[in-house]
Amino acid sequence: MANAAVELMAEYLGTIRDRRLYPHTSSRQIREQLDRSLPEEGTDFEQLLDAIRNPLLEFSRHNGHPRMFGYVQAPGTAIAAIADLLASTLNANLTAWRSAPAAVEMERLTIDWIKQIVGFDPNAAGLFVSGGSMANMAALAAARRAKAPPEISNEGAQSCSHALRIYASEEVHHSIVKAAALLGVGRDNVRMIGVDERYKINLDALVAAIEEDRAADYLPICVVANAGTVATGAFDPLAQISEIARRYNLWLHVDAAYGGFAALAPTTRPLFTSIAQADSVALDPHKWLYLPVDCGCILYRDPETARTTFAHEAEYTRVIGQEADEAFAFWDYGPELSRRFRALKVWMLLKGVGLQALSDAIEKDLACARYFEKLVRESDDFEMLAPVELSIFCFRHLPHQLKDIPVDENERRVREEKLDLHNERLLLALQHDGSSYLSNARLRGRFTLRGCVMNYRTTLRDMEILLDDLRRVAVGGAAIGT
Ligand SMILES: Cc1ncc(COP(=O)(O)O)c(C=O)c1O
Repeated sequence: MANAAVELMAEYLGTIRDRRLYPHTSSRQIREQLDRSLPEEGTDFEQLLDAIRNPLLEFSRHNGHPRMFGYVQAPGTAIAAIADLLASTLNANLTAWRSAPAAVEMERLTIDWIKQIVGFDPNAAGLFVSGGSMANMAALAAARRAKAPPEISNEGAQSCSHALRIYASEEVHHSIVKAAALLGVGRDNVRMIGVDERYKINLDALVAAIEEDRAADYLPICVVANAGTVATGAFDPLAQISEIARRYNLWLHVDAAYGGFAALAPTTRPLFTSIAQADSVALDPHKWLYLPVDCGCILYRDPETARTTFAHEAEYTRVIGQEADEAFAFWDYGPELSRRFRALKVWMLLKGVGLQALSDAIEKDLACARYFEKLVRESDDFEMLAPVELSIFCFRHLPHQLKDIPVDENERRVREEKLDLHNERLLLALQHDGSSYLSNARLRGRFTLRGCVMNYRTTLRDMEILLDDLRRVAVGGAAIGT
C-alpha cells in the first residue's frame, strides 16, 4: 500500500507546476463523484487510490504550486509528508515523557532548535500545537494567568473587578480577538491601535490607550506585537514595544506565525533583535518552514508561568516515581492532552535539509516579493498599496480608463469605488483562470490584491508570469466594471 501511495505522491509532486492551480468545479459536482453510501464492505486499495486521483487531486487547490500566492500558505515538503507517515505509523501520543520517551525528547530538541533560530531565551519552554491560532490562545491564557488576579483560574472572569485589556495594532490577526473572546477577556477589550504609513503599530497611540485605560480603572495585561502582519507583512518595532510593556508591567506576546522564520534570512534577521524580551512567541512551522499543516509552536520565556496556567492535577495524569526530566508532561504547558508527533516533521526537515538551504529558500521568497514590487513600480498599469517588508505584496491594477486621478474629490471617490470593483472582479477572474492565485485584503478602506511568496519552488520568472496572467485576464474582459 505504501509503495503504491508513494508512487502517487511522486507523480503528484513531479507534475505540480503544470497543474491548473484552482479547479473549475462545484460542491455538487464533487459530491456526485464521491461514492456516498456508508461502506459495509471493504474496498480494494487500488480503488481507494483512484479516488485520491479523482476527485481528490483533480478538484483540489494545489498549495504547492509555485504561483499559489493566496493567504499565508506553505507548499508542504516531501520529507515532511514522509515524516507524517512515519509518525502515524508509530502513533506516538506526546502527552508526557512516559508516554513517548524518544518522541518527547525529539520535540524538546526541535523546540530548542526553534528557540535558537529566532534568538529566543535558551531557558524558555515551548511545544507544538495545531497552528498559530492555538499558539496565540495559549499565549494569551498565560498572559492572563501572569497579569490578572490568580482567582480567575478557579472563579472565572467575574471574580475580577476590573475589565482586562489587551493591546494590538488594528492589523493584528483575528485569532487574537477570538482568543480574547474565548478566554473571557472579551472581544471589545482588545484595543485596536492605529498604524503608521508602513502599517506598523503607532507607539504614541499605544501609550495613550494604556494610560487612558489605567485612568478609567481597566486592568491592562498584555500587548501583542506583530512579527509580520497577515495583510501586509508589517513588522512592529519590538524593542520599543518591549520597553512600553516593561514600563506598564504588561505581558509582551509576539505573533510571529507568519514572519517568525524570516529570522533565518540575513536581510530580515535584524528585525528580530529584541525578540528575546518577549514573554511569549507564536510561530507556525506550517507556514515559513514549508511544512504541511498542522504544526504551530508556542514559546514561553518563563516555563513556570506556563505551567501554572495549564497544569491540572488528576489521578489519571499524576506522574508516579520519576525524576524531573522523566516526569515532564506537555499537558502542563498547553491546552491539549493527546498530541500527535508533530515534532518528527520538524526534526526530519531541519536535519534532512539543514539551515542553510532553508535560509536560502526564505531569502529567495523575500527576493521574489521585492522583485514583484519593482515590476509594479516600473509599470504604468499597476500600483503598490503597501510597502513590501517580508514576502507579502499588496497592489492593484489600474486599467487605462482609470489611470488619471481626478482633481474633484467626488470624482476621486467614484474612481476609487470603480477601482475596488474592477480589482475584485480581476481577482475572481485570475482565480478562475487557474495559472496564478492571489487573495485579497482591505487597506485603508480600499480593495487590494494581495500575494504572499512562501514556496521554495517560486522563481523570479513566476513573478513576471503573475503580472502577465493579470494583464491577460484583464484584457480578456473578465474584469470589467470600468
Ligand atoms: C499573523 C498570523 N497570526 C496567526 C495566524 C493563524 O495561524 P493558523 O492559521 O496556523 O491558525 C495567521 C495565519 O495566517 C497569521 O498570519
